[in-house]
Amino acid sequence: MCTGGCAKCLGATLIPLAVLCTLANILLFFPGGKTVEDSTYITNEVWYFGGMAGSGILMIFPALVFLGLQNNDCCGCCGSRSCGKRFAMFSSIIFAALGVLGAGYCFVLSAVAINKGPKCYTGSHWEYPFHDGDYLGNHTLWDKCQSPENIVPWNLTLFSLLLIMSGIQAVLCGIQVVNGLFGTLCGDCKCCGCCGGDGTV
Ligand SMILES: *[C@@H]1O[C@H](CO)[C@@H](O)[C@H](O)[C@H]1NC(C)=O
Repeated sequence: MCTGGCAKCLGATLIPLAVLCTLANILLFFPGGKTVEDSTYITNEVWYFGGMAGSGILMIFPALVFLGLQNNDCCGCCGSRSCGKRFAMFSSIIFAALGVLGAGYCFVLSAVAINKGPKCYTGSHWEYPFHDGDYLGNHTLWDKCQSPENIVPWNLTLFSLLLIMSGIQAVLCGIQVVNGLFGTLCGDCKCCGCCGGDGTV
């Protein structure tokens, strides 16, 4: 059973993903790498902070909990050596579920944003010129957006990255839900040498 070590590895992967998601969300506020004059010119889904909140800040909590799980191994409580670890594994399920929700939020938001397309200036006013992802298969339509420059590839690339990264985060947290269930039920304590125990309960 891999429980503690597995969780640590999951946590270590979540952190860089959370940083990249936050970064992608920040870049979305600067279409084509430039600032826009008015905040209402920015695509609405960017303001829902899928990358910064759902896959970013919120993801730090499960990541830190997972990273600490290995150290929680075999500390013991209530006279039972495996109880401390079982409780740690059990609480990790709650944080893992929280992570699934946060990443899921970013994932759904990114999918909606890709389908809807960016808000841009079409020559008369600022609007969403695309419908039901029609621009994805037809580059000619991209010319509808006159400004900001490169808004379509910019948003498409960043939201696609958010979609992929939040998808990975959701899977990793989902793995920890299962892993935590095993850890809670089995409470394996093979490493008890580190706490002076022999592994038997
Ligand atoms: C792409 O959109 C343009 C403008 O609406 C249209 O004229 C053209 O036929 C479309 N191309 C394809 C391959 O659907």
